[in-house]
Amino acid sequence: MRIAMIGTGYVGLVSGACFSDFGHQVVCVDKDADKIAALRDGVMPIYEPGLEGLVEHNVGGGRLSFTTDLAEAVDGVDAVFIAVGTPSRRGDGHADLSYVYAAAREIATALTGPAVVVTKSTVPVGTGDEVERLIRETAPDAEVSVASNPEFLREGAAIADFKHPDRIVVGVEDDHARDVLEAIYRPLNLNKAPLLFTTRRTAEVIKYAANAFLATKITFINEMADLCEEVGADVQSVSRGIGLDNRIGPKFLHAGPGYGGSCFPKDTLALLKTAEDAQVPLRIVESVVKVNDARKRAMGRKVVKAMNGDVRGKTVALLGLTFKPNTDDMRDSPAISIVQALQDEGAKIRAYDPEGTEQAKLVLENVDFCDDPYTAADGADALVIVTEWDQFRALDLKRVTDILNQPVLVDLRNIYSADEANQAGLRYTGIGQPKKAV
Ligand code: UGA
Repeated sequence: MRIAMIGTGYVGLVSGACFSDFGHQVVCVDKDADKIAALRDGVMPIYEPGLEGLVEHNVGGGRLSFTTDLAEAVDGVDAVFIAVGTPSRRGDGHADLSYVYAAAREIATALTGPAVVVTKSTVPVGTGDEVERLIRETAPDAEVSVASNPEFLREGAAIADFKHPDRIVVGVEDDHARDVLEAIYRPLNLNKAPLLFTTRRTAEVIKYAANAFLATKITFINEMADLCEEVGADVQSVSRGIGLDNRIGPKFLHAGPGYGGSCFPKDTLALLKTAEDAQVPLRIVESVVKVNDARKRAMGRKVVKAMNGDVRGKTVALLGLTFKPNTDDMRDSPAISIVQALQDEGAKIRAYDPEGTEQAKLVLENVDFCDDPYTAADGADALVIVTEWDQFRALDLKRVTDILNQPVLVDLRNIYSADEANQAGLRYTGIGQPKKAV
């Protein structure tokens, strides 16, 4: 199959590279000439494990290429995927669809033969209808079908998620679109990944419902963690105790500082806006958004409490700034609210992140960025683990105790146990753990 991928962000680049790895012929398009030039030189615009090698392999094999010329890219293709950004619209939280619609118009002008236009960007229900209307308005004679194919990739695990999906959701309104998408996903279907065909609108809702449900699961366990702390129970055992029930499942039940990233915060807000327009209140999702927002800042207060209530003039060292490990993405990271809350209380902040420092510098002010965990901890009055990067899982805790000014460890991801921290001489605060004398 010949495929054009419009947009070389996370979704577009990973999907384009993976499609080419299946043997399809893929051209990735982006308006950003510097990005395209860098990609042609093998330089990735994002940090994603395995991506660079995958791109290199498929460019070398002649299956993957990059261009700024959309018209050239869509000439003669079987399918054009729209994978441009849909950020929150400034001011109201609706998804900003201007890039999607601009891409649809450009595609319509450029199409030379029959093609399926597929929306991969996360878009509110009804967007496919509007994309189709715009294309027909711009190019009344174009032989085109419009489909929806939401993605369920996690940053940091995107290639594995693409190649081993739990399911592939495809929303179509005609048989041609169905046949083309079936052919495109055939390699995955051979591996028995369920290919779920629905209507276009249903596929659009599935994407938001999935993210809202996962955000709800996390927020639920985070509230349980707060309860556990007060009543002397342990949230990790609660997660295991409920997660072993097949109806609940063990995933997305890790209590932490609140969810962040480029998807859950934006998509839950956009879903609420859709619901508002449809006059259907989604009270559960509304609560999830509020509870999660409040939680991020509350984590700053948790650190203050662990430092006996006063952080003025003291130094707090943070380990991990990105919203989760294996990414350099700082969007809506809990670290941002935590840093602000601590700075508001008069603390000085030092931080170390394995991949996120450059991005963090763009959103955090007055932070002393360090080159490794021990430099960050040296002479600090508390060490706070914000993101569970693997390299923080086996710190030399005795050394940490020795170099800290005060032996305070706040572990917002529960990667250590209170016992091992105490044995190393640290005062330990985790998430959702029973309080005990240390
Ligand atoms: C999420 C979804 O997991 C993907 O399926 C979806 O395709 C993607 O959004 C998207 O819409 O593009 P992602 O944002 O990359 O993927 O990251 P997740 O791994 O889902 O984590 C999101 C946040 O939840 C992180 O801040 C993470 O630390 C937090 N989290 C996750 C928890 O606090 N506890 C958990 O148990 C799981």
